[in-house]
Amino acid sequence: MTSPPLAGESSRSVSRAARLRGEPRLPGDKSISHRALILAALAEGCGSIIGAGDGRDVRATAAIVAALGATVERAREDGLNVDYRVASPGAERLHEPAGVLDCRNSGTSLRLCSGMLASLPFFAVLDGDDSLRSRPVARIIEPLRSMGAALYARSSDTLPPLVVIGRHRLNAIDYATRVPSAQVKSAILLAGLRAEGRTTVREAVATRDHTERMLRSRGIEVRREPGTSSGGGPVAWTLDGGTRLRPVDELVPADPSAAAFWLVAGAIHPDAELTLRAVGVNPTRRAAIDLLVRMGARIDETPVDGASAAGPGAAGDVGEPLADLTVRSSELRGIDVGPDEVAAAIDEIPILCLAATQARGKTTIRGAGELRNKESDRIAGIVKGLAALGARIAVDGDDISMQGSTPLVGAATETLDDHRLAMTFAVAGLIASGSTSIDRAGSAAVSYPTFFTELERLRA
Ligand code: S3P
Repeated sequence: MTSPPLAGESSRSVSRAARLRGEPRLPGDKSISHRALILAALAEGCGSIIGAGDGRDVRATAAIVAALGATVERAREDGLNVDYRVASPGAERLHEPAGVLDCRNSGTSLRLCSGMLASLPFFAVLDGDDSLRSRPVARIIEPLRSMGAALYARSSDTLPPLVVIGRHRLNAIDYATRVPSAQVKSAILLAGLRAEGRTTVREAVATRDHTERMLRSRGIEVRREPGTSSGGGPVAWTLDGGTRLRPVDELVPADPSAAAFWLVAGAIHPDAELTLRAVGVNPTRRAAIDLLVRMGARIDETPVDGASAAGPGAAGDVGEPLADLTVRSSELRGIDVGPDEVAAAIDEIPILCLAATQARGKTTIRGAGELRNKESDRIAGIVKGLAALGARIAVDGDDISMQGSTPLVGAATETLDDHRLAMTFAVAGLIASGSTSIDRAGSAAVSYPTFFTELERLRA
């Protein structure tokens, strides 16, 4: 189902900014927002999700849990974030959806909801837009099938739409993921919640651990053990099936992947100072900050207390480390980013490539092949877009290299309808001479509905 064109899908132009100042508002963390909705649907009772990102992806997950029988109320919204109030009858009383579950552009909705649905004893179909229909699902089908659920997909079980026929009592498994993927890990852990016995997921490289933290805060004992494989941080996660989740009030931190656009804007612009408030700096999500600092970015980090970030009288704590970040114009230098570092910065690689075009010397990002499986082929998209702006960027297999520093010249860029490419080219437009046009710029609303409003405000 090709999504109908939405207002704001058309192209936009961004011109060079004389200076950048201010505090861009950030969306609530997309990964945490999806998980909060899914876990709220699995827990019997009522809970609030404060400050969820209100992009199209998270809205897709909200609609899916509502279609399964949870009551999802939008208690407060401001065009960027939303407070949800979710009341669920509990996993046992969720029901078969009457129609196809539309994940739209969201791989996280598709993969995480598959894990939830695997343990719910009914028939469900997950589908999405043209981009989602080209993204791999075998990585989900294999482990969930071996737990006893029936899953089928188009093109010999490789591409959505995805059919999930869940089973009440799944078998627990001990599974090593083939690609580092928090989505696959999370799907297995979600299915494992209602499996008989102990489920273990092993990863060669540690990926974002929000699901594990959020399960713990809902009363599930999730253990972290050293893994058995080699690589950058092998780890195994284990939980026992059969414990019921309790509902909680969740405060969602500001999204570090959205913050990365402004960190790079501030670092590469010659007259910039930008501050980002209460950003999630979970060790499994902060790699882009650390890579920028390694490149010489002037980023000051001040830890923020999670309970005080919740505000006076607010229920709940964040359960994630937070920090205020201030970035100033910086002299960047090229660095070497190894394959084991890519997974932790997977969503930030496009904007880091832009930073690298403004760094002195060569930057190489090695082993970035997984970027081809995102909302677009991000390797092809970033190379074409940045090269159009005059950057020296090349690909060799799964390695991307940039030679800097190169002055950028405004030109037409193609987003491939991918929100992270749209935002990357818009930030490039802030430093490029002339005007940079960005086709289908409205795709930014997948994760950051007010991105272009913030961008215009900062140049004041
Ligand atoms: C996500 C995990 C990553 C990331 C995506 C969000 C998550 O995907 O790219 O934007 O919330 O678990 P993979 O697990 O496929 O790497």
